[in-house]
Amino acid sequence: MKKKVLVTGGAGYIGSMLVSKLVHLGYKVTVIDLLKYSSTSLNHLCFNKNFKLIVDDVRNKNLIKKEIKKNEFIIPLAALVGAPLCKKNKKEAVSENQQAHIRNMKDNREEARGEGSSKGREREQGQRKG
Ligand SMILES: NC(=O)c1ccc[n+]([C@@H]2O[C@H](COP(=O)([O-])OP(=O)(O)OC[C@H]3O[C@@H](n4cnc5c(N)ncnc54)[C@H](O)[C@@H]3O)[C@@H](O)[C@H]2O)c1
Repeated sequence: MKKKVLVTGGAGYIGSMLVSKLVHLGYKVTVIDLLKYSSTSLNHLCFNKNFKLIVDDVRNKNLIKKEIKKNEFIIPLAALVGAPLCKKNKKEAVSENQQAHIRNMKDNREEARGEGSSKGREREQGQRKG
């Protein structure tokens, strides 16, 4: 079965090259990107059945939660890149670049695996008791 990869910021400079490579290697790739700078960087993949583009914000918790469950690998590239841009958009830089969505991803991953969540802890304690 094809491995599934989620790439946030996949339409950006690094992401667009990486996503093309991954699809070429046979991975099933989902990109979440707001297309802030380019809406054409992934055009060459739009008819490829192993590629899906979701135009949305990585700070959308429900979306991230849903996509985390569907994908085996997560490559978080969505960010405001460069000091001048961050200085100009301080609020956004903090919410996007302070790894908020990565933390969110980690929590969701642990929950999906049963680690960290109360259900997971209960299961773990039950196993220890015997
Ligand atoms: N370019 C480099 O030389 C370089 C070097 C080292 C590390 N990095 C890191 O790699 C990552 C990607 O860099 P890049 O050069 O490709 O940047 P980029 O600006 O070209 O791409 C970032 C992408 O993220 C998207 N994005 C931004 N905020 C978003 C949000 N809230 N929701 C959804 N999408 C959003 C943008 O639309 C864009 O397509 C960054 O974390 C950067 O710090 C880049």
